Amino acid sequence: MKKLFMALMVAALPLLACAAEQGAPLEHVDIDVSDKAAMQDGARTFVNYCMGCHSAKYQRYERVADDLGIPHALMLEKLVFTGARIGDHMDIGMQPADAKAWFGAAPPDLTLVARVRGTDWLYGYLTSFYEDPARPWGVNNKVSPNVGMPNVLVGLQGRQVLGCTQVQVVEDGKKHYDPLTGTPLTHQACDQLTIVPNTGKLSEAQFDEKVRNLVTFLAYSANPVKLQHQRIGTYVLLYLAFFFVFAYLLKREYWKDVH
Ligand code: HEC
Repeated sequence: MKKLFMALMVAALPLLACAAEQGAPLEHVDIDVSDKAAMQDGARTFVNYCMGCHSAKYQRYERVADDLGIPHALMLEKLVFTGARIGDHMDIGMQPADAKAWFGAAPPDLTLVARVRGTDWLYGYLTSFYEDPARPWGVNNKVSPNVGMPNVLVGLQGRQVLGCTQVQVVEDGKKHYDPLTGTPLTHQACDQLTIVPNTGKLSEAQFDEKVRNLVTFLAYSANPVKLQHQRIGTYVLLYLAFFFVFAYLLKREYWKDVH
């Protein structure tokens, strides 16, 4: 028993390593890869705002159109800007060597990024660019400090700055209150992101939704067969339930005389 316990502990060690790697706490974001409208919006944002620099070259336009329910003609008209054909990979013209010279790091291919980083990380990354005059593009990022990517969504989100506000003291997940008056105890925190009003096209809620849709599209792109898996899984379970009845009847038949 003790040995088994030890073996289990050893098997769980890599999980600890994952937990330790996490930096700033990330907000959890709910993603639904069966929501086609969300993914269509995400695909539109992706081709308009990301494909200038990032490819999704393990993905084909045709597959995206079919999975997301977009007619091929519409896909070619609205979402393909490179003159590519419907069966082509979602590749871009920018050369990695040029990109490295311009940005300091080549923009990675994004087909599988949702698997590598996770959707919470992506959402946090795309919403936490803030102004920082010390950086080459004038922006920094809370989730990925000193990143080489410019803030491409600034026109939608507006200018975001790091500022100081009073926040409630929280220790070990417990909020602190003044024991005499019951008012929340606060302290000055200077790592709070705030958006300068009226500098972006979208409201905060609209922008969050835009980014959630984009992340949903990237989650789909990293695992396009997930929906198929779920459908096939349902059939398998139905089959097993159906088969169980006959297996049980057969078992009763066999054991009937054994007494
Ligand atoms: C002007 C070029 C440019 C555009 C447009 C652009 N990016 Fe980037 N992106 C970069 C560069 C350069 C890097 C690499 C930065 C580094 O490693 O420091 C990067 C890195 C990233 C990373 C980090 C990958 C990782 O694992 O570290 C993600 C995710 C990302 N971009 C997503 C996006 C999304 C989503 C869009 C569209 C909304 C977008 N990018 C638009 C240039 C761009």
